[in-house]
Amino acid sequence: MVGEVGPKFSKKFLWGAATAAHQVEGGNHNQWTVWELENAKVRATQAEYHINDYASWDRIKKQAKNPNNYVSGILANHYERYEEDFDLLQKMHMNAYRFSIEWSRIEPECGVWNQEEIEHYKRYIDALKQRGIEPIVTLFHFSLPVWFAERGGFERRSNVKYFTRFAKKIVSELGLSVKYIITINEIEVYAVQSYWFQDWPPAVHSPYTFWRVINNLTYAHRQVAKSIHKVSRHYKVSIAKNSTYIYPGDNAWSSRASAAVMQYIADDYIVKKVIKHCDFLGVNYYQSQRVYGHRIHNPEDIVSDLDWPMTPGDIQYTVERLYRKYKKPIIITENGLADERDAKRQWWITQTLIGLQAAMKNGVKIDGYLHWSLIDNTEWSYGKWPRFGLASVNYATGERTLRPSALWFGRVIKKIRGI
Ligand code: FCB
Repeated sequence: MVGEVGPKFSKKFLWGAATAAHQVEGGNHNQWTVWELENAKVRATQAEYHINDYASWDRIKKQAKNPNNYVSGILANHYERYEEDFDLLQKMHMNAYRFSIEWSRIEPECGVWNQEEIEHYKRYIDALKQRGIEPIVTLFHFSLPVWFAERGGFERRSNVKYFTRFAKKIVSELGLSVKYIITINEIEVYAVQSYWFQDWPPAVHSPYTFWRVINNLTYAHRQVAKSIHKVSRHYKVSIAKNSTYIYPGDNAWSSRASAAVMQYIADDYIVKKVIKHCDFLGVNYYQSQRVYGHRIHNPEDIVSDLDWPMTPGDIQYTVERLYRKYKKPIIITENGLADERDAKRQWWITQTLIGLQAAMKNGVKIDGYLHWSLIDNTEWSYGKWPRFGLASVNYATGERTLRPSALWFGRVIKKIRGI
């Protein structure tokens, strides 16, 4: 498989992994840390009836029922141990890394910049560059300063100016040391979890606010991208779009029509609003969805620890569709699975690379693949039990260990890159 995959990926292809500040750094103070402390007990109690039907339940229930699971705390302490983590990237022969800059560290109070934290991220980026690793910076990956959330966050159009100011500050401080910038991670996922399902802070159910937040975030992307491009065209800017391939499970007219409408709402409504201000398209792919009549139903029996049906090869159809429609080069900004036992990760990556290769053969321009995630982290409202890391983290000792699939993936990358 390695030999077959190899020749199609160019020398410049970005091979890497991704994280987000709140999920790995530890020691943050943002709207999530506040919410976690307030909700840990309830989440632990609710796990019993929310997720007890997961195939992994017997294995994970002890952790899922423990309130500590829901408090991020120090996590993997990536904030202090990042050099060690960058060594892991090197061990896997990777040349790219996606991470987010924690806004609450940089601007702890409205309009007050913390220069020490800015210096931290400069050292962080230097440490990547010294290792020959391309930094890919995310500006908003679900965590917000408490002051910003208290002012209504992205519910208010008038608050977007604060985000734009933060983005401008980061770009002026980092200068040309970075090239790839993701403005916002998964616009609709943030909006739906926070303003519809009530699973994430501020846990509100309001269809109107949900819709406002989506529109304010697409507006925020345009504002930020314009201001970054004004500084220099050196920067390559995009959102990270969560995309699932939605297709009819049978040939019924209703299944076909519903799948088309759902795909449009899930992808195109947002992408259309930002694509003119994207130099490439960042795509996060985790799953595909089959539609029967008006219902989504995925009867696969293979599921991840989070009970997500696994169809890694369908990434091909996702990228083919997005490329055909929007004609921007694609970087896979996230892709991976919760798999504590590392039973399926090698298979997942293999199927994914085969899918990407097939898409490339069909003319899709793909510039990079970033696996989610480099290390185990906290999976938002699920807490710490889902294990997405190429490296496992022992939360008691902080020790990282590359899982067997990661060692294998490293050998694949080495061979493909010819190094
Ligand atoms: C994506 C998020 C990322 C991570 C993965 C599993 O939706 O962007 O932070 O939680 O899912």
